[in-house]
Amino acid sequence: MTEIRTPRLLLRRWHDDDLAPMADINADPRVMRWIDDGSVRDLDHTAEEIERWEEEWDEEGFGLFAVELLASGELAGFTGLSVPEFLPEVMPAVAISWRLGSQFWGQGYASEAAHATLEFALQDRGLDRVISISQVGDHASGNIISKLGMVPERETAHPEYDYPLQVHTIDLTEFQA
Ligand SMILES: CC(C)(COP(=O)(O)OP(=O)(O)OC[C@H]1O[C@@H](n2cnc3c(N)ncnc32)[C@H](O)[C@@H]1OP(=O)(O)O)[C@@H](O)C(=O)NCCC(=O)NCCS
Repeated sequence: MTEIRTPRLLLRRWHDDDLAPMADINADPRVMRWIDDGSVRDLDHTAEEIERWEEEWDEEGFGLFAVELLASGELAGFTGLSVPEFLPEVMPAVAISWRLGSQFWGQGYASEAAHATLEFALQDRGLDRVISISQVGDHASGNIISKLGMVPERETAHPEYDYPLQVHTIDLTEFQA
């Protein structure tokens, strides 16, 4: 079983108990503001997402980690890797992404999980390059992207929603954890 411990977090695969807290996170408009069309997601949609994330783990050997706080055992959200099939122009690629409940923002958890995810990508999965895809204007993601040392690669538009996207990349062979 794939698990990573950081000073404050446990990154792990998904449990049945994660559905309710992840559905709460997905029901918050502040969380969903910069994701797809910005609409919130209900319990059924969240269950489908978690099922898809677990399938990606089985198929690819990487995926989105459930991020749990070591101190309390609470699910804070996810950080991890996925194949960005929605954006064919960047393929083949593996992308890092993050989504935490708003009560967990501003404490450095997303950056802590993202660093551990890049280490996992390099050391466990032998990936030498990871990208991020974020909306122009999503400054919270932009902050993590720059703290990770990712560099701009291209600007494009979302194929479905047409808003501007920025693609950043990192050469993991030069990544300092
Ligand atoms: C994007 C998102 C994960 C960012 O979360 P975040 O908590 O702002 O990110 P970080 O983990 O980098 O923490 C940020 C701040 O926590 C503060 N902080 C507090 N304690 C800290 C600690 N121990 N260590 C580090 N930072 C700490 C810092 O001020 C830091 O800001 P700084 O880098 O400017 O100094 C969050 O806004 C989110 O989930 N958004 C909704 C989902 C989303 O939009 N996802 C992206 C779609 S592509």
